[in-house]
Amino acid sequence: MWTIEAMNKEAQNISELPSGRPMQTQFDTGLDYPRLGSVTFRRGTLTDNQEALFEQHWPRLGRILADELIDVDAWFGRSGHPTVVEIGSGTGTSTAAMAPLEADTNVIAVELYKPGLAKLLGSVVRGEIDNIRMVRGDGVEVLARMIAPESLDGVRIFFPDPWPKARHHKRRIIQSGTLNLIASRLKAGGVLHVATDHADYAEWIDELVNVEPSLEYKGWPWADAPLLTDRQVITKFEGKGLDKDHVIREYLWQKRDEREEKTGEK
Ligand SMILES: C[S@@+](CC[C@H](N)C(=O)[O-])C[C@H]1O[C@@H](n2cnc3c(N)ncnc32)[C@H](O)[C@@H]1O
Repeated sequence: MWTIEAMNKEAQNISELPSGRPMQTQFDTGLDYPRLGSVTFRRGTLTDNQEALFEQHWPRLGRILADELIDVDAWFGRSGHPTVVEIGSGTGTSTAAMAPLEADTNVIAVELYKPGLAKLLGSVVRGEIDNIRMVRGDGVEVLARMIAPESLDGVRIFFPDPWPKARHHKRRIIQSGTLNLIASRLKAGGVLHVATDHADYAEWIDELVNVEPSLEYKGWPWADAPLLTDRQVITKFEGKGLDKDHVIREYLWQKRDEREEKTGEK
């Protein structure tokens, strides 16, 4: 297993994932988890400005996947605030648009793709948004290794890669095991919000809405959701979908309060 020191030694740059086989937890739940696709190894170059931005601000606002729980209060410099993880934030268009409307909430954006993180970092710095932090890494591993059980108020996955070919469906992030892992990181009452514009992926998610017993499916819309659910902007990928007359499907779940259900008390 990688240690933080080894990772730091190996990393050429503060925001680079170490080379070699990526961390992949072996779950023993008997459920289905995404198999790593080529997206894991996607690289991209940054402009000189973005490189400079990374050097200056990443040490404070970002970190890479590591086998270490995040101390959320210390990282955000405040305690007791709700915390949301967004997986696959892309260029962070909706992340940066939503965060100021939920200034009370700590937002952790998880993304593999460095140019996407660079765009979000730029928006955060220019917009002086102080409630967003970023992790570069696979969202499943970040949840499993860096996020404490029952610590999150929300998890967002907007327009996950659809992997349209049947032989690639096993790479889709929405699977029974991921839903189970997300549920384990949510507090009772916490919310999972997923959006897709891909009809076949929507059918896939429709099949899974009730697969995780600790998540109560709420459908869409859910007026009383205890989390901001308006994504505010049309993201790059959503825009593409709309151009092609795609229908956007949104899904909301709430983590059940198992104690309440056992005792029958409210
Ligand atoms: C189709 S894009 C959508 C981006 C953004 N949410 C939006 O709506 O514009 C999917 C993004 O998820 C990222 N991604 C895919 N698998 C991931 C994973 N396992 N962990 C973190 N990010 C992932 C990809 O790099 C990509 O940027």
